[in-house]
Amino acid sequence: MKFLQISFIVYFILVSFTLISTIHCLHGERSISKVEEDDTEIERQLKALNKKAIKTIMTKIGEIIDCIDICKQPAFDNPLLKNHKIQMTPDSIRREATNKTISSSPIFGGLQREICPSGTVAIRRITKEDLVNAKKFIKKTRQVDANNTYPNAPTTNHFVFAKEVIEGKQYFGATAHISLHDLSVFRDEFSTSQIWLINGPQEQINSIEFGIMHDPLLFGDSRARLFSSWTADGHQTTGCYNMMCPGFVQVNRAVTFGKQFQASIYGQPAVDYYFIVRRAPISKDWWLSIGMDAEISEPVGYWPKELFTHLTDSASTVQYGGFASATSKPSTPPMGNGFLPQLSDFSKTAFMFKMKYVNETGHTVNLDRQSMQSHRSGKQECYDIMLASPVGEYDITMVYGGPGGICA
Ligand SMILES: *[C@@H]1O[C@H](CO)[C@@H](O)[C@H](O)[C@H]1NC(C)=O
Ligand SMILES: *[C@@H]1O[C@H](CO)[C@@H](O)[C@H](O)[C@H]1NC(C)=O
Ligand SMILES: *[C@@H]1O[C@H](CO)[C@@H](O)[C@H](O)[C@H]1NC(C)=O
Repeated sequence: MKFLQISFIVYFILVSFTLISTIHCLHGERSISKVEEDDTEIERQLKALNKKAIKTIMTKIGEIIDCIDICKQPAFDNPLLKNHKIQMTPDSIRREATNKTISSSPIFGGLQREICPSGTVAIRRITKEDLVNAKKFIKKTRQVDANNTYPNAPTTNHFVFAKEVIEGKQYFGATAHISLHDLSVFRDEFSTSQIWLINGPQEQINSIEFGIMHDPLLFGDSRARLFSSWTADGHQTTGCYNMMCPGFVQVNRAVTFGKQFQASIYGQPAVDYYFIVRRAPISKDWWLSIGMDAEISEPVGYWPKELFTHLTDSASTVQYGGFASATSKPSTPPMGNGFLPQLSDFSKTAFMFKMKYVNETGHTVNLDRQSMQSHRSGKQECYDIMLASPVGEYDITMVYGGPGGICA
């Protein structure tokens, strides 16, 4: 365990060191046409997304990570980012002055020791099947309305989430520690543990979603993996999962979407990870960082402010919860750790703790427990969510999840 601790720290030092360099990118002009997504169009998009690799890394579980020239990554094909100047760090964001001991577990199961060379970023190679599947499902499953419900969805969707309800409050980011679990999720299903940042009217809803996803269609297996999705119009024409359309700017040489996590074992001390998306106070881009905690965390990259129409300044809502979806069948997969939540034994439940929001000056601030509400769709024996009473530094904590099934 000691070895893991040390290698973990060394790994972060290496990654951190390589992030601190100045890079200037010159973008060529390109535009994305909205022609019919037939086979040739998919091929074209695939070719555009999978940039020429300077180096290719095969992970222990056989995944292909391409090391792409940081200036030639897919994001810069987006016409909105034509004049975007790449940022290498979330400007002047102050690290929280916490004093936590570093967990002895490595952050990722199967952490590849190899990282991409300087001047490149790690991007998981997208297969044609990945792209076809992702396009098919994102519209059906992710069109949230202002209440974060999924109107007229042709798929079966269920969710639980908690949020603070304070009229007019502005959120400049959100963070939580999220416990990680293995789940059995089949090919036509997915299950997430995630945070939502939302703003805008229903038709043009802007959102950034991030956390952990189990999705065999997107990732080839049902392991817990880092995921995100974004949109500036309720997924009508903009946005996608992960890096499947030009938008997210990757800056990390090792951690990328699709990255696999080590999972907890039922009945043993849970494995949790720290996730945060916050708006950089100066550049106003939305940065994703993950790690063991606020101090031992690493930026993955960011969604530039140019992508958004309503998340340009702040989010009006932040939500913490899970989402379970199935296509072409009435039953939905397990969520969390697959068991109904309870507050008496945290080794047997999925949870989030230190749920906080980010204020205008970039500080993480506790939510107001009295203003928190939890929501659940479907039957209570399928999925549930509970907020704990504040306990010291673990304020705010929630437990959630369930076995799924026929839940309507
Ligand atoms: C951090 O821990 C040390 C040793 O336990 C203690 O002396 C110090 O006050 C702590 N600092 C903070 C900011 O909590
Ligand atoms: C959201 O919920 C409120 C209260 O239930 C309802 O009045 C409103 O119409 C809903 N909005 C949408 C967009 O569904
Ligand atoms: C943000 O939070 C910090 C720490 O709680 C506080 O000192 C600061 O005044 C807050 N800033 C705003 C704009 O609320």
